[in-house]
Amino acid sequence: MNKEVKEVKKCRICGSQKLYRFLDLGVIPIPNGFLKKEDLSKSENKYELTCQLCENCGLVHLTNVVNPKIMFTNYLYVTAQSKIMLNNLTHLAYQTYKDFKLDKSSLVCDIGSNDGSLLSLFKNLGTRVLGIDPAQNLAKIAIKNGIPTEAKLFGLQTAKMIEKKYGQAKIITALNVIAHIDNLHGLLSGISHLLSADGYFITEFPYLLDLIKNKEFDTIYHEHLSYFSLKPWIYLIDKYDFEIVSVQRRRIHGGSIRLIHQRKRPKKNIAKKTLDYLLSLEKTAGLYDKKAYIQFAQEVSNLKTELLNMLIDIKKQKKRIVGYGAAAKGNVLTNFFGIDNSMLDYIIDSTPYKQGLYTPGMHIPIKPEEKLLSDMPNYALILAWNFADEIMEKQRQYTKNGGKFIIPIPKIRII
Ligand code: TYD
Repeated sequence: MNKEVKEVKKCRICGSQKLYRFLDLGVIPIPNGFLKKEDLSKSENKYELTCQLCENCGLVHLTNVVNPKIMFTNYLYVTAQSKIMLNNLTHLAYQTYKDFKLDKSSLVCDIGSNDGSLLSLFKNLGTRVLGIDPAQNLAKIAIKNGIPTEAKLFGLQTAKMIEKKYGQAKIITALNVIAHIDNLHGLLSGISHLLSADGYFITEFPYLLDLIKNKEFDTIYHEHLSYFSLKPWIYLIDKYDFEIVSVQRRRIHGGSIRLIHQRKRPKKNIAKKTLDYLLSLEKTAGLYDKKAYIQFAQEVSNLKTELLNMLIDIKKQKKRIVGYGAAAKGNVLTNFFGIDNSMLDYIIDSTPYKQGLYTPGMHIPIKPEEKLLSDMPNYALILAWNFADEIMEKQRQYTKNGGKFIIPIPKIRII
C-alpha cells in the first residue's frame, strides 16, 4: 500500500469499527489528474478505490484517504460552466439574501470556495464575503476577481484565525465539499466557532439515496471520502447542537440535498415532517443495511457487462464512438470498465484547460466541443451524464445529422 494513503479503520462520524466493504472499483489514478502529452510515458500513481458501510450509524465512506495535499494543492477542478450549476448558485444566493435579511454588515463565508463563483453573487447583492479553499491556484484566481480568500483547509484552527481577523459569520456555506473532508468533527467544531448565534450554515451534497437508486457508482472516487444519507448526518450535527431547519432535494449532480442548519432552538422544528419522511425513504431503501449495498455492487457489475457488450458490438460494425464530458466520474467509469482509446477515439469537453490533455489511466485525448459536428462520429457516450439534457439540447444538430448519444446512467439509453 502506498504511504501517501491512510487506511480508514473506524467510521469518521461515530467511530465504530463495524465496517462492511461492498464495492471495489480497483486501483486507479486520481480522476481529476489529467495528463499532458509529455507525461503519458511516465508511470502514474494509482490508489485503491473501495467503499464501505458503517453498520452502526449508516455512513458510507471510502476505505482509504489519499493525502489531500496530493489531491487539492493544485486543484484543477473549476466549477463547471453550466447553466444548471449557475442557476443553482444564483437560486441559493438570492434565497439566502432575502430569507435571512442580509445586509452590508453580514459576513458570508464559503468553505471550498473554489474560484469564488458563489461569493461573487453574494458580493453583488451587497454582503461582505470571505472564501476558504486549500487550493492555492484557485485562491489566487478568486482574489484576482475581487473575492478575499484564505488558502487554508477549514477546521477549528482556521475558524479561530478567521473569527479573529474578520469577526463571526452570519452565513457559512459549504457546497459539494463536505464529502472531501476527512475530519468532520473538526469541520463542525470550526463552524460552531465561526457562526454567529443567529447564523445559518448551508450545505449541499450528493444524496446517497439518489446515488444508490440511480446506480451512480462513478461518483465514488478518491476525492469523495463520504457519501451521506440523512441519518448519519443528523447524528453528527446533533453533537454540535445544530438542527436542520430546511431540507430540499435538488436535481444537480445526479440528485443532491440542500440543508440549512441553525443552532438548536426550543421552538418546534419546521423541517421535522420532511426529515421524518426522508428518513423513512432511506430506511425503506435499506440504506442502513448491507443487503442494499450487496445488490448495488451486483447492479454495477451488470451495468459494466451490458455497456461493454454494447460498445464492442458497435466497434464490430466498424462504427466510431467518442466520449462526451471529461468529467472525473467519466474517468472512474472508463478506468473501472477498461474503456480505452481503442474504444473511444477522443473525449469532447467544453473546459478550455482540459482540451489538449489526456484522461488519467486510460489516456484518451480531450478535444473541444466543436469537433463533434465537424467530425460526426457515429456515437457519443455521455460520460457527464448529469448534464445529458443540456448537452443534447446544445448538440441538436449532431442528432439531426444522424449521430446518436449513449447515456450510461441510471440505465443505458440510446437517443
Ligand atoms: P462535472 O459535472 O464537473 O463532473 P465531475 O464532478 O464528475 O468532474 O463534469 C462535467 C464535465 O462536462 C466538465 O468537464 C465540463 C463538461 N461539459 C461539457 O463538455 N459540455 C457541457 O455542455 C457541459 C454542461 C459540461
